[in-house]
Amino acid sequence: MPVFRKTVEDMEGYIPGEQPRDRRYVKLNTNENPYPPSPQVLEALRDGIGDNLRLYPRPMADELRERAARLYRLAPENVLVGNGSDELLAILMRAVIDPGDAVAYPVPTYSLYDTLVTVHGGVPMHVPFPSDFSMPPELADVAARLVIVCNPNSPSGTLIPPQQLGPLFRRRDRLVVIDEAYVDFADTNCLELLHELPNVVILRTLSKSYSLAGMRIGLALGAVGVIGELAKVKDSYNVNRLSIIAGAAALRDPRWMEGNVRRIRRTREALVRRLVELGFEVPPSQANFVLARRPGEDLEAVFEGLKRRGVLVRYFAIPGLRDALRITVGTDDEVAVLVRVLEQLVS
Ligand SMILES: Cc1ncc(COP(=O)(O)O)c(C=O)c1O
Repeated sequence: MPVFRKTVEDMEGYIPGEQPRDRRYVKLNTNENPYPPSPQVLEALRDGIGDNLRLYPRPMADELRERAARLYRLAPENVLVGNGSDELLAILMRAVIDPGDAVAYPVPTYSLYDTLVTVHGGVPMHVPFPSDFSMPPELADVAARLVIVCNPNSPSGTLIPPQQLGPLFRRRDRLVVIDEAYVDFADTNCLELLHELPNVVILRTLSKSYSLAGMRIGLALGAVGVIGELAKVKDSYNVNRLSIIAGAAALRDPRWMEGNVRRIRRTREALVRRLVELGFEVPPSQANFVLARRPGEDLEAVFEGLKRRGVLVRYFAIPGLRDALRITVGTDDEVAVLVRVLEQLVS
């Protein structure tokens, strides 16, 4: 149909991980948290359901924004709340990219970046990771308006230590986005950079560590001027009333999240040990998932075999990743099922 922009007609849409409707799978494909959100969230939500749902929410999600600012020792003006961090990525593109502008990021990484850059008329600039997923030195000097570093990276699970990101910030004519969707599962994070640098935005989400993927809550943290520009291009009421309530309650109870993270990290270590015993190579993971590789083999049949036996993981049919499965760290029981089925499929 001639009505659509050529860029849109020519592009593939982003394909999210499967969200099965009917069957009960052991679901280890989209990095959700296997544990429930804080009871305080559920209680606040129950209290929040009432007559005032007829009213629009506060445009800047004040209650959640203020709670996030307190938790991260920032001012509310340093925080923008989004309908998931995916929306914040789109807002960043909308605010920064003119047609033809380059957006650079190390690959392989979160493939939604490609989709969003293309939709906004930008040009994805892929900078390959070295084989150990360390910082690609070329990234420091690329000519791009926007640089994104997914840290910990998906699908590798690996983390570039904050000190090694320093060269990225030398040029002040660009914005550097650190996508920290998985950082609560890591040993360190980049929050300190916010106090030193004007051109960095850190993205957080409550989807993973806070067990709230279903509520769609993301946070962009940055300098007051940067957050102000981003706020100009967001939808007026981008975060709904219940999500604001849920997010604020979750951030009031970070201990609950930390307890779940400790469990997931313990399960992660056990899962990695078992995968290595089964002959997989696993880059060191700082996230709530691991990348299990068998270099040179195509793991599509293993992925399909797992699915037939009720275990969903993620397989990426793209060059360089066909020899890998990305496996979310579930409960100990879920991981035991996965390992049992994998034993049958790969031995
Ligand atoms: C690297 C990365 N960034 C952002 C997101 C999006 O998270 P949200 O649920 O906050 O939109 C994901 C979700 O899988 C992700 O893997």
